[in-house]
Amino acid sequence: MKIINDIDTMKKWRNKGKKIAFVPTMGGLHQGHLLLVELAKENADRVVVSIFVNPTQFGEGEDFTDYPRTVEADLALLQVQGVDCVFMPSVEAIYPNGMALDVKVGEIGGILCGKTRPHFFNGVVQVVERLLEIVRPDVAVFGQKDYQQLHIIRQFTLAGSDPEIEIIAGKIMREKDGLAMSTRNQYLSVDERNIAPQLYKTLHQLHQGELDRKSASRQLQHYFKLDYLEMLDANTLKQITDNTSKIAILCAVFLGSTRLIDNIIFKRG
Ligand code: PAJ
Repeated sequence: MKIINDIDTMKKWRNKGKKIAFVPTMGGLHQGHLLLVELAKENADRVVVSIFVNPTQFGEGEDFTDYPRTVEADLALLQVQGVDCVFMPSVEAIYPNGMALDVKVGEIGGILCGKTRPHFFNGVVQVVERLLEIVRPDVAVFGQKDYQQLHIIRQFTLAGSDPEIEIIAGKIMREKDGLAMSTRNQYLSVDERNIAPQLYKTLHQLHQGELDRKSASRQLQHYFKLDYLEMLDANTLKQITDNTSKIAILCAVFLGSTRLIDNIIFKRG
């Protein structure tokens, strides 16, 4: 497994004729990330994983400094997984001209998670654009766990400079009790970890029709500070209309100081 820190070396690594799949991450790897690596392997000859905690997607007072950095353990997992190359650039290498946000995602970046984290999607698109430009993969793999992120990246690559790159989505990897795996789950205390599965449980009940949206919100508010609970058209992230074929239940909550997100996407019955 090749480890590359330098941008020119990464650019040159691209082996002509081999199909490359790319999995961008911020490290703190768990089984959800590894599922994406598996998907990448199934769809290409070579797999590149990046580990880069991107400062521009963290706002003031957010957890940039505390974000779990577990490089040794991450590399061991990726080695076992048969990854061909790990790209671990420095902040200076990714942002040689400073960290001013040069991407504006627009309206779609201001709804749902973008309401509470207005800087977030601008930072994500900025870094994903840079990483794609350096790695130049044929396929890039993202998780459905971050559904709005996936949606925006899809829109962005389709409309933007990289229409050639195929975006593949991986399903949400969950703990046995239903909690969606997340690097930030490490922040939860024992008590909070016991409460956290109520998020998916409630979304599941809403999906099954056992709760309507109002009672689902009430149930969530019993356990969490509710950021949002929305049911939207999964293809547009706008209100459901007669033309809606796929629905997204999307939710974000705070549990103590930890923000948890989850979703269920389903075909309209
Ligand atoms: P990170 O949170 O490390 O996630 C990397 C990828 O793993 C994302 O595509 C995310 O959707 C996916 N992922 C996270 N939890 C998952 C789970 N439980 N099951 C399946 N996939 C999961 O998302 C980011 O990093 C960053 O915003 C990034 C895209 C790397 C840009 O900095």
